[in-house]
Amino acid sequence: MTKKELGDWQTPVELARAALGVVARRGPTPAVVLEPTCGEGSFLVAAAERFRRAALVGYELNERYAATARDRLPPKRARVTVADFFRVDWDRALADLPEPILIAGNPPWVTNAALGGIGSTNLPEKRNFKGLTGYEALTGKSNFDVSEWMLLRLLEALQGRRATVAVLCKTAVARRVVELATAKRWSVRPGGLWRIDAMRHFRAAVDAVLFVCDVGGDAPTDARWPRYAALDAELPTASMAVVGGAVVADADALERTAHLAGSSDPEWRSGLKHDCARVMELELQGRRWVNGLGEEVAVEDHLLFALMKSSDVARGGTPRARAVIVPQTALGEDTSRLRQTAPRAWHYLSTHRERLRARKSAVYRGQPDFAIFGVGPYSFAPWKVAVSGLYKRCAFSVVGPRRDKPVMLDDTCYFLPFASEEEARSACEALRSPIAQDFFAARIFWDAKRPINKALLQKLDLAALLTATAGRKKEKKFPDRVDLAEPRVSPPRQGSPKRPGERTRR
Ligand SMILES: C[S@@+](CC[C@H](N)C(=O)[O-])C[C@H]1O[C@@H](n2cnc3c(N)ncnc32)[C@H](O)[C@@H]1O
Repeated sequence: MTKKELGDWQTPVELARAALGVVARRGPTPAVVLEPTCGEGSFLVAAAERFRRAALVGYELNERYAATARDRLPPKRARVTVADFFRVDWDRALADLPEPILIAGNPPWVTNAALGGIGSTNLPEKRNFKGLTGYEALTGKSNFDVSEWMLLRLLEALQGRRATVAVLCKTAVARRVVELATAKRWSVRPGGLWRIDAMRHFRAAVDAVLFVCDVGGDAPTDARWPRYAALDAELPTASMAVVGGAVVADADALERTAHLAGSSDPEWRSGLKHDCARVMELELQGRRWVNGLGEEVAVEDHLLFALMKSSDVARGGTPRARAVIVPQTALGEDTSRLRQTAPRAWHYLSTHRERLRARKSAVYRGQPDFAIFGVGPYSFAPWKVAVSGLYKRCAFSVVGPRRDKPVMLDDTCYFLPFASEEEARSACEALRSPIAQDFFAARIFWDAKRPINKALLQKLDLAALLTATAGRKKEKKFPDRVDLAEPRVSPPRQGSPKRPGERTRR
């Protein structure tokens, strides 16, 4: 099997030592340390140094790695078995172990979808997966991380035992495991999540943590899962919790901002979606509008609007010399009227009809020619408060008209429409306020694919926020711009809208 199939990125021993340092600070001292996918044995080596009396048990698929691990460990205390995780009877394997048990390690970071894409069989049998926990039904997702499955399998097998689990995994995996264990009322107690620099240790652009939980005793209620910025951090930055069946990022901030939870009015909208930038978007070159095919385009001015994209919004709301053709004023509007009302646009769009008809997204099926989405009266509101959905920061900008015409946003942005500048400015100022920042911090997981999304924004009751900030506004002017972003272990690549996971080499 390939490195990718096996999720094979060996942990540097210093990282394993630091991770076990966290475990040792919490106690108790384990009687046995088990590494279920031990590779060349870094965790077991670190465990041998740290817990001098503990038995060491490793399982690993790769024979060569298992042999290396064996060579690195004190033979009297260690047993390393070549085995496929998915074929080990974990109930039996754990039954023989003395307590307290420590399961430590770094299970493979690969998703079943990625494995499916390369025809790999390094997966649990479908039958087992479904039988395990009803997990699929709970999340409604068929894509899962292999490490998530492994962790759930081990936690299930550990029920009734006294154990600690401490593994390196994606933050999203830790979150889902906490969510599922809570739903299942398993005895799985915090622990915590200690952020690690996955880029530095594994060259992986992904949010990752040391996830630690304890098993034993009653299932916890209202558990708080402290989140630490680094393995050596003494105080947590926030505490995650499961509220109403869903994980929240910061339980204290959630409580502090409960009075703002509701539904935004006006509604947050997505920008225009057309899926044919080369035809629909134009750039000003000198005095001429030119499309993405290099053609000069002269369509009626009333269909042409300045266009802002995520990068413009993230820069603080300054549009580039870019325009978009808006052939409809409402969803599904008949475009054949353009023949009379805008003959030059009609001619231009007709010339590119086939290109527009070839748009892949199913939403265009059965729609009039040249149809676009995300269009309605709100698109033509002169004032907007916008935020980028691509960037990992909650930076709101006021977008005003250009040459007396509303500016359009593309579908990577979200916005609130306003009739007046005053309304837009006070909404934007309120959204930049510390209390709004707190509201979002409670609910945003920055490692999610699109942490800023319509559902999140819509949860903030704008009227309640305006009331809450009205008094404070008089006392103190809020900053012009607030970038709400999680502190990072390593500095982000400047201006990159890419999301973790997209660049991962793991
Ligand atoms: C991310 S590496 C970590 C290795 C080791 N735990 C460490 O921390 O250095 C994942 C390991 O899982 C092993 N592995 C992958 N699939 C496995 C399976 N089905 N059963 C057992 N081991 C597996 C790989 O060979 C690899 O050594």
